[in-house]
Amino acid sequence: MKKITISILAALLFAQFASAQETPEKYRPQFHFTPKAHWMNDPNGMVYYNGTYHLFYQYYPEAKIWGPMHWGHATSKDMLHWKEQPIALYPDSLGYIFSGSAVVDANNTSGFGKDGKVPLVAIFTHHNPVLEKQKTGRHEYQSLAYSLDEGKTWTKYSGNPVLPNPGITDFRDPKVRWYEPQKKWVMTLATKDRITFYSSPDLKKWSKESEFGVDAGAHGGVWECPDLLPLTHEGKQVWVLIVNINPGGPNKGSAGQYFLGDFDGKTFTAYSKETKWLDWGADNYAAVTFSNTGDRSLLMGWMSNWQYANQVPTDPWRSANTISRELGLKAVGKELYMTSVPAKELDGIKAQGYSKKNISVKAPVDLAPKNGNASGLFRLDFNTATADDFELVLSNKAGNELLIGYDKASNQYYIDRSKSGKTDFEAGFGQKHFAPRLSKDGKIAFTLVADVASVELFADGGLTVMTDIFFPDTPLSGLTIKSAKGIQLDDVQYSELKPSIE
Ligand code: FRU
Repeated sequence: MKKITISILAALLFAQFASAQETPEKYRPQFHFTPKAHWMNDPNGMVYYNGTYHLFYQYYPEAKIWGPMHWGHATSKDMLHWKEQPIALYPDSLGYIFSGSAVVDANNTSGFGKDGKVPLVAIFTHHNPVLEKQKTGRHEYQSLAYSLDEGKTWTKYSGNPVLPNPGITDFRDPKVRWYEPQKKWVMTLATKDRITFYSSPDLKKWSKESEFGVDAGAHGGVWECPDLLPLTHEGKQVWVLIVNINPGGPNKGSAGQYFLGDFDGKTFTAYSKETKWLDWGADNYAAVTFSNTGDRSLLMGWMSNWQYANQVPTDPWRSANTISRELGLKAVGKELYMTSVPAKELDGIKAQGYSKKNISVKAPVDLAPKNGNASGLFRLDFNTATADDFELVLSNKAGNELLIGYDKASNQYYIDRSKSGKTDFEAGFGQKHFAPRLSKDGKIAFTLVADVASVELFADGGLTVMTDIFFPDTPLSGLTIKSAKGIQLDDVQYSELKPSIE
């Protein structure tokens, strides 16, 4: 009897496992945040407080497609193990809860603090669908909510909105930071085809300071989800203005551009009006940084693209976020660039792996991990003394192939997802994406983070970054590298990454 029960149980378990392999649940990333169910877009209000990282996100809890926006909420100690929390903000009579930011109001400038409790304050866009239909052009305005229990519960401010709309159709995604030299809050707001800066002593009264960008950067689409943050290069402070744009990205659709320059509390002065792209792949949108992380600047984006986000074949959820990335600056000749590399916390989920040295590559060389799982963290250091074209092939038993390579003639990296599995849900999905190799360093270096249905490529210390999602029919198991003319690899390291989802 016992034996029969065990075999029935085993059969049931196997059936469940087999069906997870069959169903769209098979695309669930293992160490990237995804909501358990339903629709997600932009990460919002990311903030570090009392040892916990808070992630809020654009969320529609009723369906797998975009709808009336809420702020979903998840918490983590390491930005990898996320625990989904109750929804933080629901739509109300002023509108849907669009993107925004959150700050720790340590000095209680807002007066929301009580009995010594420090308020977390969320600054977000109310998007009013009724006014939108009336085509007044004034349907987006900025509002506040605060929490006195470390993000568990939120109260909307009775004086909302705090920044009414002056007549600009796209007037959204406030990113607020404390500007210590003038002891005031600075809001960076996306206002259609430019950024408008506002300042406030208390988060409630806002005055316009300046505008940037009508004559700078890419304008193939509307400007959204900006961020303004300081980084340091050789002891000098450099301000980074991130401006997400949709469409108009370098590889179609949604993408993030950035400008480097100075900021004096009032005006952002760019060193150059030309766009730099923070990620050349198709799937890192609305990326902004966590607030209250001290000297660290940690970026997280939505790993999708408005071109197909509502059609991707996952179920019962849609969308994942990128891993957290640490931002820095690096000079190439006279030109300064922002770099992004995986936040060091990723090393904390490393499991078994391998390390190989001095590999000559011409015919395909097998780099597949022995455990048959090709998701994980790969580091490849090339000896470019003999550099030529090379191609990495991530594959599976179904014969799907994701190609990641370097084209010497054009000095470009690429990711080609045309044969990567399911691509037919949107006409432009199965494409090859290119990115320039910016580094002039003799040696190419790749850090590659693969997680079931996504790949994040950090080349040359994060000077060139590409993020692409894809939908392989069976789990990734193979990795080979080939080079028609021949290249030399100094070092290859692989670590399996432990699943961080519950
Ligand atoms: C960016 C965006 C934001 C907006 C939000 C709505 O993806 O369009 O500009 O606040 O999504 O969900």
